[in-house]
This record gives sequence, C-alpha cells and structure tokens, in this order.
Amino acid sequence: MHKLIIANWKMHYGPVKAGAWIRAFRRERLPKELEIAVAVPHVSLPAARASLGRAGVPLLAAQDVFWADEGAFTGEVSPAMLKEFGTSFCLVGHSERRAHLGETDEMVAKKAVALQKTGIRPVICIGETEAQRKKGEHLKVVRAELTAAIAGLKGDGQAPMVVAYEPVWAIGTGKSCSTEDAKQMHEAIRAVLVKKFGKLGEEIPVLYGGSVDTRNVADYLSTTNIDGVLVGGASLDPRQFGLLCRTAMPN
Ligand code: PGA
Repeated sequence: MHKLIIANWKMHYGPVKAGAWIRAFRRERLPKELEIAVAVPHVSLPAARASLGRAGVPLLAAQDVFWADEGAFTGEVSPAMLKEFGTSFCLVGHSERRAHLGETDEMVAKKAVALQKTGIRPVICIGETEAQRKKGEHLKVVRAELTAAIAGLKGDGQAPMVVAYEPVWAIGTGKSCSTEDAKQMHEAIRAVLVKKFGKLGEEIPVLYGGSVDTRNVADYLSTTNIDGVLVGGASLDPRQFGLLCRTAMPN
C-alpha cells in the first residue's frame, strides 16, 4: 500500500494564495511511493484545481461537507459540489470542528455516508483529549468515536474511507504522540475496522496527525499500522511540505 500524506491548510489561503502554493509545490521533487493530497478551504478549490494542470499531484481534498445533495441548507456545500472540482478526499469530524462548531458523531457519520455515495473518500478524524488520556480512557473514547462514525458505511463502497487518528492534545502544540502510543492506538483502530469490514478493514489507510514535521515523519511512517500522516502547520509552506514528503520516504 502506498503511504498517504494529506496536508490540512485549515483556514489558510484564499484562491490567490492557494494557486501560488500549488504551483510552487508542483516544482518539488516527490517520492513516487507516496500518495499526496491537500485539503484546502472550499473557496480555494477552483483555483487549486486550475493550478494543478494535468499533473494531478497533489490530489485535492476538502475540509468539510454537508450530508444532503442540495436543498435549504444556507452556507453549506454538498458532496456533489465538491466532486465538480475533482475532489478525491474530504476531512470529516476534525477536532476543531467538533470543538468550535459542535460537530457530533452523528453528523460525522452522515457526512461520511454522503461522501462515500458520491465517490469521495471520507477522512474520518478521531482522537482523545489530554484529560481523557490522563484518565486512561483514550482507547475507549477513540474506539467509540470510530464505531459511531462508520456506523452507516458499507465495506463494498467504491470509495473506501481513510481514518486519521489525531490526539487533540497533539494538534498544533508541538507535543507529538510517541510512536509507541500511536502504534497502540492504530492497532485498536485496525481491530475496529476489521471487525466491521472484514478483509477490507485491513486495507483502509489509518493516518496519524498531530504536530507531524520533518523530524518525526519518517518515524511515524515506519511504525506498524501507520499508513500515512495528516499534516497541519508543517504544510503551509510548499517547499517545507515538499521536504517533509521527501523526508518521509528517504530514497
Ligand atoms: P498540526 O495539525 O500538524 O498543525 O498539529 C494537524 C491537524 O489538525 O490536522
């Protein structure tokens, strides 16, 4: 399986800067064994798509979606609209959305189903808070979040999902999760996926996210059951992100 690296710009870069980022990133030398995607703000999808040219690298991702095809949902964007720009992936349930916008497990589950139907791969984000880890509840919390998020998904869908384990305390803090702790969590996640989807569950990429940078990316990618990374802060500079991709696969 190719390793998958997804950049998450969060609320950075409107159309002008997004186009410039993509053009700069396309000049980077990138390892062939990587699948690379970049999650851009909705308004920047057209500019990002236009700047990609024919190369198709990176793939496009969105950061959120609504679960209905169309209708009276002011301000929302449907999976079909994302599809028009050739979006390959869409993040759902990022902890920042859960914390600031009240996104619930139920909403995450509906978004994942809607994306899968449209042929966009949902990237289901899950992770425990620092307090939950301190209390020793992290495995339980993450298993429950994942189980709820995948409740409506089918194992035979054309667009299988991606899971991103992002401990909330590691996001944007510089306090990355140790590879041993990440390994333990990824094993627990894999077990939930295999229980639900059987053999397909073994093939679903499970990413780690939270303060990934050029110093730790290779360690994560060489850890069992870590199939890629979700990168926030360290993806904002296209040349640094190019370096991160090369560091991830040093050859
Ligand atoms: P970070 O963010 O790399 O800045 O910690 C990761 C994320 O929230 O996806």
